[in-house]
Amino acid sequence: MIDVDEITYGELIASGVNLTVVADLNRLLPQLSLSAIGPLTRYRIIHEILGSSTRVFAARHRGHIVGIVLLVSAQLLVGQRDRIEDVVVDAEYRRLGISSCLMALAEDASAMGPSPYVDLTSKPERSGARAMYVGRGYVVRNTAVFRFVHKRPPASEAR
Ligand SMILES: CC(C)(COP(=O)(O)OP(=O)(O)OC[C@H]1O[C@@H](n2cnc3c(N)ncnc32)[C@H](O)[C@@H]1OP(=O)(O)O)[C@@H](O)C(=O)NCCC(=O)NCCS
Repeated sequence: MIDVDEITYGELIASGVNLTVVADLNRLLPQLSLSAIGPLTRYRIIHEILGSSTRVFAARHRGHIVGIVLLVSAQLLVGQRDRIEDVVVDAEYRRLGISSCLMALAEDASAMGPSPYVDLTSKPERSGARAMYVGRGYVVRNTAVFRFVHKRPPASEAR
């Protein structure tokens, strides 16, 4: 049986932060992005992700995390605005409805708060994800995402 639930800061602290969680998230990360910087550390998961306003929803099977969805809330002048990020399900567990369950949890959590909607972005080549989003009622907005890339020296030169 696959359990789908929220991972909370308190739960991880109370359980002594199972190192399996760290390994599981590091197994999922390259399936989400090959350009992700470095492995996720225990510190980063506990303090920088779970200790922030980001909420993490996870699917677990036999004690391992096999899928995640993040709900990120930003406090803006116009009010709180929620985004869904880092949607990924382990390749061995796809087409079982796992991401749909995780998305539903994140959407319900957002609906309990003040944000009037949930936004997300998805590249054109992510056809599976896009089919899933459209199937859930997400509509493509007529707006562009702009990005300014920082010009930083390579890490080895940054001293
Ligand atoms: C996209 C992804 C999260 C889907 O997870 P999943 O748990 O397999 O999705 P679900 O089983 O809940 O699928 C729900 C519906 O979405 C659509 N869908 C999902 N994957 C699909 C695929 N590869 N091709 C076409 N449609 C797909 C289908 O309509 C599916 O319903 P169905 O199985 O009854 O036909 C998963 O394939 C994944 O992790 N991909 C790599 C990472 C990624 O692209 N993340 C999205 C970043 S924007």
